[in-house]
Amino acid sequence: MKKNTVKAFGALFFFVSLLSEVNQFTYIIMISNALQDALNGQIVNEIFSANMYLSMSFYFEQEGFDGFSNWMKKQSAEEMDHAYQMASYVIKRGGTAVVGQIPAVKQTWTSPLDAFEDAYKHECHVSKLIDKLLDQAVAEGDKATEDFLWQFVREQVEEEATASGIVDRIKRMGDSAIFNLDEQYGKRV
Ligand SMILES: [Fe+2]
Ligand SMILES: [Fe+2]
Repeated sequence: MKKNTVKAFGALFFFVSLLSEVNQFTYIIMISNALQDALNGQIVNEIFSANMYLSMSFYFEQEGFDGFSNWMKKQSAEEMDHAYQMASYVIKRGGTAVVGQIPAVKQTWTSPLDAFEDAYKHECHVSKLIDKLLDQAVAEGDKATEDFLWQFVREQVEEEATASGIVDRIKRMGDSAIFNLDEQYGKRV
């Protein structure tokens, strides 16, 4: 092969490889490392929530409140679903989703009221974490992550209202009627 032909092939190869790199950056607007890490942190928080509700579910079953136990199991599954959604989002945006270390959760409560009050406090805490994540996405000008996170801001409004509603109901009903409530929450699907 002539020297010039070799040079021409070399140049062509260089441009093709350059173009494929350009394509990568043109079509995948990657999530920043900082937001990827923050979302991975939230995955840990969601799994922590799932474990906490599962722990409450076991506590209720132990205490003979099968309805509350069922409600908590469903709640736990919902939290895991939030973790799955966040992981899929990070991966779609060219990031890496990982499961970090999940802190241990509480294992017992003194009454249904005690457990649901804890659930309410926890949801208020999670709302603040989601707000912080959204602030970070806004600060970076990452519109896609901003859009993705708004659904969780809305979700937290529901989560707080549901938990605080149950706390109110337990307080108003008193001990004797608590089993009616337990039966009602056993119907959650
Ligand atoms: Fe959640
Ligand atoms: Fe939640």
